[in-house]
Amino acid sequence: MSQKPPPKQFIKTPIKGTKYTLLVSSAKGGVGKSTIAVNIAFALQKLSLNVGILDADVYGPSLPKLIDLNEKPKSEDGKAMIPVEKYGAQCMSMGLLVDENTPMIWRGPMVISAIKTMTQKVLWKNRDVIIIDMPPGTGDTQLTFAQEVKIDGAIIVSTPQDLALLDVKRGIQMFDKTGVKILGLIDNMSFFKGDDGKDYKIFGESGVERTAKEFSKEFLGHVPLHQDLRRSSDTGKPLTYFEPDHEVSNIFLNIAKKIKESF
Ligand SMILES: Nc1ncnc2c1ncn2[C@@H]1O[C@H](COP(=O)(O)OP(=O)(O)O)[C@@H](O)[C@H]1O
Ligand SMILES: [Mg+2]
Repeated sequence: MSQKPPPKQFIKTPIKGTKYTLLVSSAKGGVGKSTIAVNIAFALQKLSLNVGILDADVYGPSLPKLIDLNEKPKSEDGKAMIPVEKYGAQCMSMGLLVDENTPMIWRGPMVISAIKTMTQKVLWKNRDVIIIDMPPGTGDTQLTFAQEVKIDGAIIVSTPQDLALLDVKRGIQMFDKTGVKILGLIDNMSFFKGDDGKDYKIFGESGVERTAKEFSKEFLGHVPLHQDLRRSSDTGKPLTYFEPDHEVSNIFLNIAKKIKESF
């Protein structure tokens, strides 16, 4: 008689020094996850929360560029790292530890070990919330976070075209299966406002909102394709921090309010 082995129980370790830990995730790259993560972080800061930003994309870290940061984190005992402070937020990224031009050629176990270091050996202090900018996909990084780190909620970013939406569904299923609460979906590059004042729906319409409904998830908002957002990312000056009254910053602020209410 064969007996099924019991399902493996994972111990979810909380990140110390923060009340809440949120993931910003997407199954596809280039949908604006990092841009959204950083702007949500500074929108939450504007709502008087102490924020931390953890860039979990060990292959292609983008936080250093997005907030114009290149200071190495210090360590007092050679083991635990002190996150680097920028624009009032505590920040950590693999990009601060290695040379920007060195490609990361790592196998799965090394990625998992890097994630453990970044979630257990960083001395976050007094944070209300840490926003984790995830790499794309449903691979080693996602599984390690979903199974081994205590996550209070995941935010899924997508663009409205069908191809991206297929991946979103995979992402939703992964979080549902691993018991990570999905706070909601964000529709990025939702529309482009032309010089004529009209909204152009370049990638289709309402796909993300429909997907949210289909899976009974919250829809958090539409973020337009906007040159100021691209420019602010490229110059390392996040829009929600440098231009908090910008129309796009207001959209992020509304999303941040919904996130804060869900705590
Ligand atoms: N809503 C937007 N409007 C304009 N540019 C955007 C927007 N969202 C993202 N971008 C730009 O698209 C590129 C990819 O965004 P990024 O945040 O790095 O995506 P991901 O982290 O998903 O790979 C960046 O150059 C970024 O500035
Ligand atoms: Mg990214």
